[in-house]
Amino acid sequence: MIETFKWAWFVLLCCHISSSTQKPDSALAVVDNAEAAGGGADDEARGDEEELDVLQPTQEWQTLQPGQAVPAGSHVRLNLQTGQREVRMGEEQLKYLTPEHEKMEDSGESLVSPDELKKMMKKIKEDLNSAESTSHNQFRPLEELKKDMAQLDMLVETDAQILRRLLSHFNSSSTTTEQRLSILEELEYMVHQVDNAQILCTMGGLQLILTCLNSSDSRLQEYSAFVLGSALASNPAVQVKAVESGALTSLLTALATARPFSVKKKVLFAVASLLRHFPYAQQHFLSHGGLQVMSAVFRADSGGPLRARIITMIYDMIREKELVSQELESDQQERVRQYAGVPILELLQEEGWCSAVPQLLESASHDDREKALHTLLAMSPACLVVYQSDMGLQERLLTLRLQYQDEALTEPGYFAELTDLIDELQKKL
Ligand SMILES: *[C@@H]1O[C@H](CO)[C@@H](O)[C@H](O)[C@H]1NC(C)=O
Ligand SMILES: *[C@@H]1O[C@H](CO)[C@@H](O)[C@H](O)[C@H]1NC(C)=O
Repeated sequence: MIETFKWAWFVLLCCHISSSTQKPDSALAVVDNAEAAGGGADDEARGDEEELDVLQPTQEWQTLQPGQAVPAGSHVRLNLQTGQREVRMGEEQLKYLTPEHEKMEDSGESLVSPDELKKMMKKIKEDLNSAESTSHNQFRPLEELKKDMAQLDMLVETDAQILRRLLSHFNSSSTTTEQRLSILEELEYMVHQVDNAQILCTMGGLQLILTCLNSSDSRLQEYSAFVLGSALASNPAVQVKAVESGALTSLLTALATARPFSVKKKVLFAVASLLRHFPYAQQHFLSHGGLQVMSAVFRADSGGPLRARIITMIYDMIREKELVSQELESDQQERVRQYAGVPILELLQEEGWCSAVPQLLESASHDDREKALHTLLAMSPACLVVYQSDMGLQERLLTLRLQYQDEALTEPGYFAELTDLIDELQKKL
């Protein structure tokens, strides 16, 4: 195997990691196994070919001895306990292994977590800052610290590598539920970065997470919805991929079947993230019975916190469409056209939301009532007739008006705003 390598170039690194006793002569040599020949570096390096001791990486981590070289594409890490560098096959090399090999690989080895490495980077950067601001001898020499940093930068896995590792571990049949949960937790943290969420999609992660929504374990359902919601938030590319992958249908199915409260809460979060600023998904939601599913959740959550979340989502959809329709610039015409295909007010009226939203006014929370008032106002173009014949609503508004009027005497601001909202609504009736 080694004969197939063409020694193209060497990277020399000095190793002074914190308490490590390694000498600078333990430089890391990388050999390029690319087929493409040519290039001056190739000729320069060829002379060293005979002497070079190349460690052939396997799936297991092996300690790299001073003077040993590794093929390019290998995965090198720093063992923080021993200060030794360790090597195994890189992600690309692992890809060509058979499933039997992968099973051996998945047997619960613990990598240095990205968090640990980041902490260590931070520590070194702090040392570096104090070394720069003071010149006391008790600090390590500046040059040494800079080398440490460069070394760590090399050894820290890129986010794409981490994502690939997490997904392949997640996908393995030998991974336990607890391991899957902690992978989902790590993914949730990572996908807040727009790029990471998109990489997750291109690696097929979306499908894995959607399948996990159907898992029999409710914690897995909850966490996969959480990852999905975070990946979708303010990320149009992921929103498009998700709708194409049938995410909306999976999410609505999850909401429509008996699931614990904690799961529904996160699934609602994912639905709201998917719909926000994405008229195409909103059309899909409306034409696939999204409002009926929400109705069922709303009814079942009598007095519960899911109601306020649903109302907020509906309010946001109405407002989005309103704001876009007020755009006058010609470059906004396409958006106006897209939102024209979202008949949100008409459907809310047809599906009985004009009489459902007032129920949220019964909540003991001022915040919930405020959300209800805003939504009632936003729906009023389609709901006025229903409001006018709803005696319960009108009585409730009178009672709340008196209550908030009193509260506004001692604490204006918020309560005065609520009073204004009620006034505005009563004026329409
Ligand atoms: C998960 O495993 C299946 C088969 O074992 C494979 O087809 C699929 O591509 C894998 N998905 C990911 C994201 O690794
Ligand atoms: C989840 O289960 C439902 C019904 O059991 C099925 O229709 C759907 O395709 C499944 N989704 C995924 C992503 O496996």
